[in-house]
Amino acid sequence: MTARKRVAILISGRGSNLAALIDAAKAPDYPAEIALVFSNVETAQGLQIARAAGIATKAISHKDFATREAFDAALDAALRAARIDLICEAGFMRIHSDGFVRAWEGRILNIHPSLLPAFKGIKVHEQALAAGVKISGCTVHFVVAELDSGPIVAQAAVPVLDGDTAETLAARVLAEEHKLYPAALRSVAEGKVRLKDGRAAFG
Ligand code: GRF
Repeated sequence: MTARKRVAILISGRGSNLAALIDAAKAPDYPAEIALVFSNVETAQGLQIARAAGIATKAISHKDFATREAFDAALDAALRAARIDLICEAGFMRIHSDGFVRAWEGRILNIHPSLLPAFKGIKVHEQALAAGVKISGCTVHFVVAELDSGPIVAQAAVPVLDGDTAETLAARVLAEEHKLYPAALRSVAEGKVRLKDGRAAFG
């Protein structure tokens, strides 16, 4: 096997997708290792998960920086110091500057709890319920400058059931996220999916 890709996971909170990625990376044939967990929130629960797994962590608050660019420069320095190949955003609640996205183009993934391009942004499950869709799901996509709009790497669908609340739908989607993200990262780390001319290229 070729060298495993060094992955940084960017979080702001709970870290359940982080936990799923850490678990997946334990498999000897997994093509990526979680080399760094970064958070913009020093108290993020996910940082505890990473520490318990013996993974290096770094927390830098965006509030300590006057501009988005200055925060992204500190993030970029942390990623380069850890010799990161790929970035996975998992509940990372910051929008990047264009320069950061360009510098890491094709090497940043995000997971979003809807079938994009439907229901971008926040309060995603509330949006899905208000629209009355019968199917929702989750999407792993390459990050581009425009929020939740990058080329799609993988998706998984779940039914929306009568009587669903945002919470019950979120839980059903989250269970799929935990399977989808490790599979999507595997395909990108193996070079089976890549960003080419602004589109996801497969095979
Ligand atoms: C997930 O639903 C993810 O799709 C969204 O934020 C949530 C993060 O949850 N971007 P967790 O921190 O991975 O538990």
